[in-house]
Amino acid sequence: MNRVCGLTTAFALVLLAGCGQKKESGAKVQMKKQPFGKTADGQAVDLYTLTNPNGLEAAITNYGGIVVRLKTPDRNGQLADVVLGFDTLDDYLKGHPYFGAIIGRYGNRIAKGRFQLNGVEYKLAVNNGENHLHGGLKGFDKVVWNARDVSTAEAPALELTYTSKDGEEGYPGTLHVTVVYTLTPANELKIDYAATTDKDTIVNLTNHSYFNLAGQGEGDILGHELMINASRFTPVDAGLIPTGELRSVEGTPFDFRKPVAIGARINQDDQQLKYGNGYDHNFVLDRTGDGLVLAARVTEPKSGRVMEVYTTEPGIQFYSGNFLDGSNKGKGGKIYQRRYGFCLETQHFPDSPNKPNFPSTVLRPGAKYQSTTVYRFPPVK
Ligand code: GLA
Repeated sequence: MNRVCGLTTAFALVLLAGCGQKKESGAKVQMKKQPFGKTADGQAVDLYTLTNPNGLEAAITNYGGIVVRLKTPDRNGQLADVVLGFDTLDDYLKGHPYFGAIIGRYGNRIAKGRFQLNGVEYKLAVNNGENHLHGGLKGFDKVVWNARDVSTAEAPALELTYTSKDGEEGYPGTLHVTVVYTLTPANELKIDYAATTDKDTIVNLTNHSYFNLAGQGEGDILGHELMINASRFTPVDAGLIPTGELRSVEGTPFDFRKPVAIGARINQDDQQLKYGNGYDHNFVLDRTGDGLVLAARVTEPKSGRVMEVYTTEPGIQFYSGNFLDGSNKGKGGKIYQRRYGFCLETQHFPDSPNKPNFPSTVLRPGAKYQSTTVYRFPPVK
């Protein structure tokens, strides 16, 4: 057992002994439910805090399925909250750049909010210039999900379900969506997505957590070292819509096959970096077959924290927090300046419904959309 877990478990055992519980039971798997406030239309929302036996904590609200807090240990066993967000529901309701939220029905952009399916043109809500972004005006990040505790003896788990009506934000078909967050004993926040439909439709779900492994609000993320398991990426046009090309990362600032600081090449004179205002691009993961593959690994040198991302998806959006501008006052009054957080959003490629050469995002009745992503926090040395 690593030093961090050993210390944390020992501490938990002392606490449990103090509570008069049996020592052999070890640290407990826990799920705590607290009221988190009400939406503008009066729906009650809760905050669920999941704790694993090593002391990791994930707090998730059923408003938007938002990961509000995620506490992981540094090399000295010190826990810090490594995701950006707010202390109150009201702050989330005021609007924000998708902090921690479930994104759907379609993660990232669909050009001009239009696509054709079975010869019919669908018009989606346009909410990002002339394009559709992250599910539209009221995407899955802004709806109240039904919540159910599905914890086991090994791991706390929260199941969220939502039914998106036929025509919502312009999408065809009634979509039943289930998202399960599990905090595993292996220090993983695992997200299992599933969906079914009653008409042909398109689906591309993700989570939009912004990470800062030094702790939320603790400076920019340019010194984090990033590895992305991708030999190709999808270049974009000025509106951040993929051109359709799968371009080699070789010799470009998009080559993260070996770990490199996020900031090392971010200001290079590069057309793609200009379009993105930094990194805001989909990477084509190197994979053989389906199943979970290591998509990315991030190391924060000062704290020693490491995060690995595994996914069943073909792509990952690396976004370097370019649009953060200090206007969001986050948890504990921290101000989130430009590049104070990064996102690694596992996904099918942006604008796939208009790109026949990209993997399909079509879901048909009788089929099941399934996708798994794991954010793993391995023991740090
Ligand atoms: C995604 C997009 C970005 C931006 C952020 C939210 O990562 O690709 O362009 O919209 O979400 O601000």
